[in-house]
Formats: sequence, C-alpha cells, structure tokens
Amino acid sequence: MSFQEFFLLLICLFAASWVYSSIFHTSRTPRTLRGLQQCRETLRASTIASRAAPNQQLVEVFNIDNALTTINKIYHAIWVRRVRDSLKTHDDEWNALAIFASNLRRTLLLSQIRASNDRMVDLPSLVQSLVFRVVLQKFFPGVPQPLEEDVHFITARINALWLATKIHCSQADSNVLELKGQLETRLRKVFQASSMGQISSKANRLNIIIPAYESLWRVVLRCFLEVRFRNQPKKFEEIDYSRIFSRFISHPNPSVFEAPFLGTQISIKHVVNEALRLYPPTRRIHRQLDKETVKIDVEWLHRDPVSWGRDAEAFRPERWEGVLLKDVKGKMAFMPFGLGDLSCPAKKFAPMMIGVLVAALMGGVGEEWEVVDGGVGSDVSRTRVLDGGREVYAGLRLRKVEG
Ligand code: HEM
Repeated sequence: MSFQEFFLLLICLFAASWVYSSIFHTSRTPRTLRGLQQCRETLRASTIASRAAPNQQLVEVFNIDNALTTINKIYHAIWVRRVRDSLKTHDDEWNALAIFASNLRRTLLLSQIRASNDRMVDLPSLVQSLVFRVVLQKFFPGVPQPLEEDVHFITARINALWLATKIHCSQADSNVLELKGQLETRLRKVFQASSMGQISSKANRLNIIIPAYESLWRVVLRCFLEVRFRNQPKKFEEIDYSRIFSRFISHPNPSVFEAPFLGTQISIKHVVNEALRLYPPTRRIHRQLDKETVKIDVEWLHRDPVSWGRDAEAFRPERWEGVLLKDVKGKMAFMPFGLGDLSCPAKKFAPMMIGVLVAALMGGVGEEWEVVDGGVGSDVSRTRVLDGGREVYAGLRLRKVEG
C-alpha cells in the first residue's frame, strides 16, 4: 500500500468513526448542560414531546402513562388538572396528615426496634415506609394501610427497577420483567377491594406513586440527616432545629411554614429550600431536542460556587434570607421543580410535605440517637456534602444511646 493510499484509508476511518459517533453516540449519550441561562431557556422552551421521549424508560419499566410521558396535549392537561386538584390541602388536612405521620413514625420505629436483635433502626427503610404510607394516605385515602412487609416489598422493587434500567443487557431485561411482575402483583394486593381515592380507578397507581413517593423520600432522608445529625454546633449554634420542627408539627400550616422562628431568621421553608438545593430529587432533567438529547444538570447548578458562594456545598438554611431576592430577577440557579409550563404542580405542596415528614422524624429520633459508625455511617458525620445517589445510604443504621 502506498503512502497516499494509507493516508486516504486513515482519513476514511476517521470520517467513518466521526459519522458513527455523531449518529449513534451523541444521540444516545445526552449532552450535559450546565450554563444557567441555557438551562433556564431550554426548560422554558420545552414541549411535552421533548420530555416524553427521554421519559420512555418510565413507560418501559413502570408502565407509567401520565403527564411526564404523554405527547397528547389534552391528556396532559387533564392529568395536570387532576393532580392539581388532588394536591389541594386545607389546614385541617395538613393537621391530620401531621398527626398521621407522627403516629406512623412511632409505630414504625417501635416495630423496627423490636424486630432487630441489636435494637438498631434501618433509617432509609424507615423513611421509605413513612413516605410511602403518607403518599397512600394523601392520594389514595380509600386504601387501607398495607402490611409493613408489603410496603417493604414494593419500595424495594421500585428501587431495584430504577437500578436495573441503568444496566443495558438482556440479563437486565429479563430481570426487569420479573421485578415488574412482582411489583404489579403486590400493588394489586394492596389496592384490592378499595376505591382508588382521588385518582381514577383505571389508572396505573404508579402514575402518582412514582412522582410523589420517589421524589419525596430521598430529600426527606437527607434533610433529616442534615438537621438531626450534621448540625455543626460551632457554625450554627443559634439554630435549634428540634424546636423549629416541633413548633411546625403542632401547627403545620403555610404561615408557620414561612414564619422565622423566634430569635432566628430561619423558617422551615428555608430549611426545606436548602435541602432541595443540595439534594434535588430530580438531579438531571432530560430533553430530546432536534438532533440530540440533553440533560440539565440541576444538582451541579444547585452546588455551583459561582451562584451560591464558596460555601455552596454547606447546608446553611440562613442563606435563603438574601438569596430569595435574586429569584425576583429570575436569575437564580434553583430549579428543583423544573421551570416554565412543564414545571411540577407540587411545588407548593411538596415543600410543606417535606417539612411535615422531617418534623415527624425529628419528634421520635431525638439527641439520644446516633448514626452507627463505619461504612456509610462515617460519611454522614463528615462535613462534606452528602451524596445525592439513590443507593449510597442503603443500610444506614441508627442506635439509641443507653442513658
Ligand atoms: C420533592 C418533591 C418533588 C420534586 C422535587 C418534583 C420535581 C419535579 C420536576 C423537576 C418536574 C419537571 C420535570 C421536567 O421538567 O421534565 C416535575 C413534574 C411533575 N411532577 Fe413533581 N416533584 C415532586 C413532587 C411531586 C408530587 C408530590 C407530585 C404529585 C403527586 C408530582 C407530580 C408531578 C407531575 C404530574 C409533573 C408533570 C407536570 C407537567 O407536565 O406539567 N411531583 N416534578
């Protein structure tokens, strides 16, 4: 082969690999967006079709057919209206939900302590059960509270299905099918012999459970860890989270949620905003644009020192005092509920719900509890920001210190 032929061959190979990667690779591997302006514009310009395409995973794995997956504008509008209606919560209902959550936490904590030989509590599983049951109570009020073993089974299968979608192989596909079947059977058992409450009885229950339960439990877990186990006395000596949350759970209404606690500038809203900033449940928002898929890196934007200062990774609810003003100018790097027409209809409900759930946990897990050292436990006692990943704190355990 002459030098020219060899050179031509190299150019052909290079061109072929470029064509291949631009057709297959870049269209499959989403491009990450981190420019604040670009992210805001992309979200504001989004159509339901640009969101439905990357959300097909939800259809494949959970058979979801809701506002997040449809390309039908009428169906989308009906869905969002239904969800908005079911999210309306008056003060009496908040009160009832707060009492329900506190009683539930008491029962769950006791049964976990009794069931374990070493009197330890598995925190993620406690939080998952609490959140799942409160979501049932709120959105499916006609459904009797399930057995703990059913809740554990369902939440574990939901988790396993999310994880299985990350692995692309036939082994994973058959695994997904099996998990799906198990999840459907157990959900049918839990929902049988009851009306579906506020959501149509023909709908897949996961249409509501997935957006509500999945987004709430992870941020509730991290918010609770921050306020109960990571409150650094030297920096935050003036914040007594126990008292702030105890006041809120006695009067869980929007005005107490926003009111600064006596002697501080901190409100529950500030604490929850800070948790949603550092630990946004939707860490990345995907969109299918004309030629490529992009992912808006919400978690990165929320921790960017350019927007949030050198202590961007520190949990400091008091930063919300001044920062809220910036949002008025529409410049804030804060989008836990997305932005624009397709943003989350629960953006007012969910922060209150997080406040109630964290308060319920704070009421039962006081200073006499400690995180068990070693493994994931040691990560919690460090000052650096907690990991936002789904599985990182699986198995995190608490122990009651003998007095
Ligand atoms: C901490 C709690 C929550 C967070 C962080 C959250 C986050 C989000 C985000 C980021 C989006 C926009 C997704 C996108 O642009 O592609 C969204 C949309 C949506 N969320 Fe939530 N969500 C939460 C709770 C809930 C709850 C409790 C419900 C209802 C039961 C809910 C129902 C929905 C629905 C129906 C949409 C689609 C809205 C539309 O298409 O107009 N979310 N959520």
